[in-house]
Order: sequence, then structure tokens, then C-alpha cells
Amino acid sequence: MAEKHVMQYQTVHFNLNGKDVERTVDVRASLTDMLRNDFRMTSVKKGCEVGECGACNVLIDGEAYNSCIYLAVWAEGKHIRTLEGLLGPNGELSDIQQAFVDEAAIQCGFCTPGFILTAVEILESGREYTDDELRKLLSGHLCRCTGYENILRAVKKTMYKRLGKPMPEA
Ligand code: FES
Ligand code: FES
Repeated sequence: MAEKHVMQYQTVHFNLNGKDVERTVDVRASLTDMLRNDFRMTSVKKGCEVGECGACNVLIDGEAYNSCIYLAVWAEGKHIRTLEGLLGPNGELSDIQQAFVDEAAIQCGFCTPGFILTAVEILESGREYTDDELRKLLSGHLCRCTGYENILRAVKKTMYKRLGKPMPEA
């Protein structure tokens, strides 16, 4: 009897933080695993691995996704951004990263890359959101350490800075 051939590996081509790349991956691998193991994007954290905590969040064509529940092969033709892609040419922090530092919105830092990438999606929309809307947009992320208020403040402060408006008093 002929043996059934199962194609287990596939080559995926995509753009990672502005650079065109390709890799041959196990078709069952998650995007988290490909980014961490094949590209050393260690900002992509493995938390719950079931799409609940947001630690593995990356931007795919500008939208925030939990990469643990996204197959690596689905990255074909996409533009993927991780926290590493936010740094300037000499490793300078972006405005939103600096705001997290300034507002003490980081403790252990495990949740931080995910939060920041969702914040980038929010900021790049060019819209002004209310506190309640920001809370809702950030609600897919869990943080065990900080009160969420400092995180909200960091995002809000950067939003107003980019909009060129003064931040309203709370
Ligand atoms: S590790 Fe992906 S959502 Fe928690
Ligand atoms: S800073 Fe530790 S989980 Fe958020």
C-alpha cells in the first residue's frame, strides 16, 4: 500500500520589521515560535499560549494579533512588526516605549511588548480616544504587576503628544 505523503514543512516569505525574509517552517508552528526561534525576536513573549493574555502580541499588516494562535505559515506576504522594530537606528527608544518608562508602566516587563504594540496600533490610527475606549482597546492584555493606570497614562500621554494637543487633566 502506498504511503500517504503529508507535507509537513512549508516556506513562508514575509516582511519582518521592514526587511524581507523567508523561512521553511513546520506547518504546525505558531508565529510566536517562528519569531522567537528562527528570528530571535525575544520581545514576543510566551504567556498563556492560548490567546488570553496578549504577551505574544505582534502587529500584522498594522493590526495587533496574538501570535500564539496564529500559524507561522499564515505570515505569507504579510508585514509583521515586533517591539524590536520600534527602536531607532542606534537602539533609541520610540516615544511610546519612553512613555512606559517615564510613567513607571513597567515592572517585570513580561507584558510590556504586547501592550506597546497594541498601543502602536492605537496611535497609528491617528484618532483621539476616551479613557474608556483606551481601556477597552487595551483589555486583551493582562499584567500581573502594575496597576493598569500607569499603562493607560503612558498610552494616553503619547496619543496627545502625537495629536499635538495638551493632555486633559484627569
Ligand atoms: S501567549 Fe499568546 S495570548 Fe497569551
Ligand atoms: S509588568 Fe509584569 S506582567 Fe506586566
